[in-house]
Amino acid sequence: MSSTASLQAPERPLEEHAIKVVDLKKRYGSGEDSTLALRGLTFSIDRGEFIAIIGPSGCGKTTLLNILGALDRPTSGKVYLDGVDVSRLGNKELAEVRSRKLGFVFQDFNLLSRMSVVENVELPMFIAGSDPELSRRRALSLLGRLGIAHKAGKNVNHISGGERQRVAVARALANDPTIVLADEPTGNLDTRNTEMMMGLMKQLHDEFRKTLVIITHNPEVAAHAQRVISIRDGSIVDIRRN
Ligand SMILES: Nc1ncnc2c1ncn2[C@@H]1O[C@H](COP(=O)(O)OP(=O)(O)O)[C@@H](O)[C@H]1O
Ligand SMILES: [Mg+2]
Repeated sequence: MSSTASLQAPERPLEEHAIKVVDLKKRYGSGEDSTLALRGLTFSIDRGEFIAIIGPSGCGKTTLLNILGALDRPTSGKVYLDGVDVSRLGNKELAEVRSRKLGFVFQDFNLLSRMSVVENVELPMFIAGSDPELSRRRALSLLGRLGIAHKAGKNVNHISGGERQRVAVARALANDPTIVLADEPTGNLDTRNTEMMMGLMKQLHDEFRKTLVIITHNPEVAAHAQRVISIRDGSIVDIRRN
């Protein structure tokens, strides 16, 4: 059996969740100096849902997103992505899940500054071992759908802030993930750029049909989501529908 086959759930009932988390705990360090950053979270996110996770600084949002994004492992509890129990996967399989199922939009976008717009979008496809010619075509097509194909050859340092947002979103979509995770994507943006970013997030959800999880401490950003999960001190204190 190939490693890819082992990642597929044998049956995929319609009610299967995009993300399901059961009694998730994360402790950093050990002994007296340790921090229990997540204290037993249980929730699920439907396929195609748009969720905001909100809470004050230090409450565990990034810790949670890193675990949902297969970038880190829980201390205990279960995490299912598309029905696959990722808490049981080895490093190689985890990297494969990350590459195939997940797209990321980071705060400040983390674009590679020595590279062009199109090269930044190709990067996740390159990492996944995709054919270079197909990757170039797909990257250009994504840039087209996001309205910046005309900047494809520009260095990412020589485009505007709004254009950089578009590149970050195109890159998140590169491997056609089912789930996109965004950690404070508007964290360092002014009002106008926050609105532009939320327009892109809506497009990602409505037109590209992705399951979208945005972490934010901004209630105006959270107001765009279908449901809002509120976290305080590593615990869920509220889940409500907008
Ligand atoms: N790598 C780490 N090592 C030790 N403690 C950490 C680490 N990352 C985060 N923490 C701690 O875990 C808690 C949650 O942090 P974090 O998930 O970054 O919160 P948020 O993203 O909501 O600001 C905080 O108390 C933080 O200091
Ligand atoms: Mg954070």
